[in-house]
Amino acid sequence: MISKETIDKIFSTVRIEEVVSDFVKLKKRGVNYLGNCPFHNEKTPSFTVSPTKEIFKCFGCGKAGNAVNFIMEHEHIGYPEALRYLAEKYHIPIEESATNENPEEKSEREAMFILLSAAQKYFTQQLIDSEEGKTIALPYLKERELSQTLITNFQLGWAPGGRDVFSQWALKNAFSQELLVKTGLSIVSEKDGKLYDRFHERIIFPIHNVSGKVVGFGGRILKSNEKTAKYINSPETDVYSKSKILYGLAQAKKSIRQLDECIMVEGYIDVLSMVQNGIENICATSGTSLTEDQLKIIKRFTENIIFLFDGDKAGQKAALRGLDMALQEGLNVQVVALPEEDDPDTFAKRLKEDEIRIYLKENAKNFVRFRYDLYKDEASADPAKKAVLVKEIIHSVALVNDTIKRSLFLQEAAKVLNMSEQVLHQELRRILVEKVKEQNNVDRLPIALPFVSQEDPQEIKPKDTLHQEKKIIRDLLLYGTREYPGYETVAQYLCSELNEIQWNEANCLRIFDEIQKAIQEQIALPDYTTYIRSGDDELEHFVSSLIMEKHKLAEGWKTFLDREIIGPDENYIPEVQSSLNHLKLRKVMQMIYEVDVLSKEVIAPEKQDELLMMKKALNETKKKLSEEMGVSILGK
Ligand code: CTP
Ligand code: MN
Repeated sequence: MISKETIDKIFSTVRIEEVVSDFVKLKKRGVNYLGNCPFHNEKTPSFTVSPTKEIFKCFGCGKAGNAVNFIMEHEHIGYPEALRYLAEKYHIPIEESATNENPEEKSEREAMFILLSAAQKYFTQQLIDSEEGKTIALPYLKERELSQTLITNFQLGWAPGGRDVFSQWALKNAFSQELLVKTGLSIVSEKDGKLYDRFHERIIFPIHNVSGKVVGFGGRILKSNEKTAKYINSPETDVYSKSKILYGLAQAKKSIRQLDECIMVEGYIDVLSMVQNGIENICATSGTSLTEDQLKIIKRFTENIIFLFDGDKAGQKAALRGLDMALQEGLNVQVVALPEEDDPDTFAKRLKEDEIRIYLKENAKNFVRFRYDLYKDEASADPAKKAVLVKEIIHSVALVNDTIKRSLFLQEAAKVLNMSEQVLHQELRRILVEKVKEQNNVDRLPIALPFVSQEDPQEIKPKDTLHQEKKIIRDLLLYGTREYPGYETVAQYLCSELNEIQWNEANCLRIFDEIQKAIQEQIALPDYTTYIRSGDDELEHFVSSLIMEKHKLAEGWKTFLDREIIGPDENYIPEVQSSLNHLKLRKVMQMIYEVDVLSKEVIAPEKQDELLMMKKALNETKKKLSEEMGVSILGK
């Protein structure tokens, strides 16, 4: 168990905008930060981070919480693991309060991470200390000009020879056979039922997820050998989904964000050689073809992607699909082809850092030019082939969503292809029309209306007081301790006004009760920080979401304003007054409704009279309230 002191220390040190920006590209908007939500797919950013309130909230999918919740949600890990992650990030030593931690008792994913990390340390140790490591593996890395710093940063290692040396070590260290197989580190032989190492006598390249946890490994044999594959990789596992991982991204993300640009290459060694030579904003797909998910991950850090291809044309042609995918994801795509004889590895070694950067700058082509250059020789000799090329280029142009950019690329295509823009435009329009048709048939997206409540529509009944209750609790949590005319605090005022009210929302009731109790017992009032750090998942989510909520009072009497109300709000008195009136009014309307329902069911005349009197009184209160609020209520 992590001690209470450590947890407090973590919460007081952590800055949520820093935590989030390791994964999401944030832009400053007033007092807050805004970015594309990592939890759902979106084109316009609605993911908001409030440094002052120490919370995040996505107005698109509704996810909200504090920094710990963010890490839990994003990395799919538990509360203690998330705390450990943050402690590590901020160099906070963790004090444990007793109880031994048994890897088997933790959740399975966490157990896998522990084994993978232990394996990485084991392989690195082997590289540095073992006889094989020192005499074969290290010299090999040296020959490939990879420095000690690089070996450390990328946690390279050596898997020893023999068939089960690692597996035996792991079993001895209390890792189960089941876990060894589950992580892909060991394999049970079908022939003899014994446990074997997946990696032996290989240089080990750990593969990390974005947050830097080891999820798998690649292993390279030392000498090229036709009988065995040059690389062996971890299989897909519960923590390693190949389509969602980019090799080197954990190490590159900072530089990618700084330079606002990501270079993509193909292999482990390509990444390492480039980093070794000063190009750090680089990552690789490692052997698999690029996926949409990988591009989405890159887009969290930058919109600018540069594909770096080997000189050979066959490889470049094979990679064209990746370009189209990147265009479709809304990325700005550039392509650099290396000199014929080079791959990124040899290229990086030949040049100095600034020479590399200059080459990249001078040789970067947009996708129109790149595709054209790749096929121009064939196309110039054969009009039919040229027609295909033209169509393919326009097809790519049509993938660009931004209309201005699209028309600029169309101009570029006209220039490059030496054809009239009008003709190309016709083709473009044809493709776009096709696309719209297709979309309408297949998966028409529901149109999200701005400012419409994001609550579950089923929850909103005509006389519901949900919004009004939440709004009052929000005011209590934000302004509770401030002065209120005639009372000591806003909280005191609201508690006296709402003493008798019936709460419908369970979380609201609970918070209100606690505030009321605090006032009675004259102890410190809970505010929103109390709740967003309460350790109670539901409450943390509820309050974060509440605090980040934009104004969305009950339907009917107020237009929703896209007003930013997070941040210092000096108008809290009228705000509190208005929230209170809205709640009261809503309650009165709810009671009128209930009286109406009752009077339809009750037949006894004396009761009927009573109900009528009640209704009259309620209607008067309603009238008074709405006059006070300066709004007219139509209907009942
Ligand atoms: N790859 C693989 N399995 C193979 C060959 C390649 O998984 N049998 C993947 C690896 O991720 C490798 C990438 O494809 O990094 C690119 O392959 P290649 O260019 O052959 O390897 P390099 O990383 O460049 O390694 P080296 O320079 O040592 O040959
Ligand atoms: Mn290579």
